[in-house]
Amino acid sequence: KSELRLGIAGLGTVGANVAQLIERKSDLLAERVGRKLTVTALSARRREKSRGFDTAGMAWFDDPVALAREGEIDAFVELIGGSDGVAREAVEAALQRGIPVVTANKALLAHHGVALARLAAGNGTEILFEAAVAGGIPIIKTMREALSGNEVSRVYGILNGTCNYMLTRMEKEGLTFDSCLKDAQDLGYAEADPTFDIGGFDAAHKLAILTSLAFGTEISLESIFVEGISKITVDDINAAAELGYRIKLLAVSLRTDSGTEQRVHPAMIPARSALAQVDGVTNAVAVDSDLLGSILLAGPGAGGSATASAVLSDIMDVAGGFVPPTLGLPPSRLQPYVRARM
Ligand code: HSE
Repeated sequence: KSELRLGIAGLGTVGANVAQLIERKSDLLAERVGRKLTVTALSARRREKSRGFDTAGMAWFDDPVALAREGEIDAFVELIGGSDGVAREAVEAALQRGIPVVTANKALLAHHGVALARLAAGNGTEILFEAAVAGGIPIIKTMREALSGNEVSRVYGILNGTCNYMLTRMEKEGLTFDSCLKDAQDLGYAEADPTFDIGGFDAAHKLAILTSLAFGTEISLESIFVEGISKITVDDINAAAELGYRIKLLAVSLRTDSGTEQRVHPAMIPARSALAQVDGVTNAVAVDSDLLGSILLAGPGAGGSATASAVLSDIMDVAGGFVPPTLGLPPSRLQPYVRARM
């Protein structure tokens, strides 16, 4: 197979990390997937900035929509963010050309995910979004692949790294809300507009996506009850601790007799429970299903490297034609995959 030519639009924390990883792990990735990944086109707000990878030979587009429409690419990686505007236009343009899209944009999917998935299918291509929910945790692949024969009854957890990082430091170090938020921004965890984090909207976007995957329903952002953490004080956290609880921003979606219930709000959780132990930027997602029972996946929920890991996993899926990469297993174990690839 020839190389996979990638266009990356958006070179913030995640975008720059993805490009750096593709440069640094070039040989390893090519070996695993059987073809070389090459970034051939870039777009971002500022061109001059140095971003830690070699841009030689990559075409530059001031306009991400032009990249998606005209770039010499086999896959389009959207890391701009935002539910509308250029991110949406660029993703639509790529899909209309039949070019697969990899995105971390939960706001876009929460608002237009079903329409975009239909547009992709109508053009014989795919939109992949592992990085859109819970950063590096492989919850999308788990739900789409590992749980594909299960019926899910509930999905819930801690879906915003910024809020969990802030609540943890407020509790452990007694720091103020504002100083914790500033640190989360400096570390590259927060959204460009951090109101999305602390207002609970980012968690709601992710929950809307999980609900649709879990229950096979249309995405319904409007029906989510949303309350963020902006009213939580160190005093609240200490009072909860005295009673044996910790305060977490929870996102919950479950099947009820009357339909689906979705909510995001701060909750007091028994301090000894597994979810209460999830600290810092870590996210955790629990899924209850009929065959598997209850699982809990936990790991880095935000940040450049972890989120780039998820983006890269989708890029590898595209590169391999949706056949899992080899990951160094002995060839005999790989026969079904090897056959599928030939
Ligand atoms: N701002 C998000 C968070 C980034 O803090 O969880 C990952 O989606």
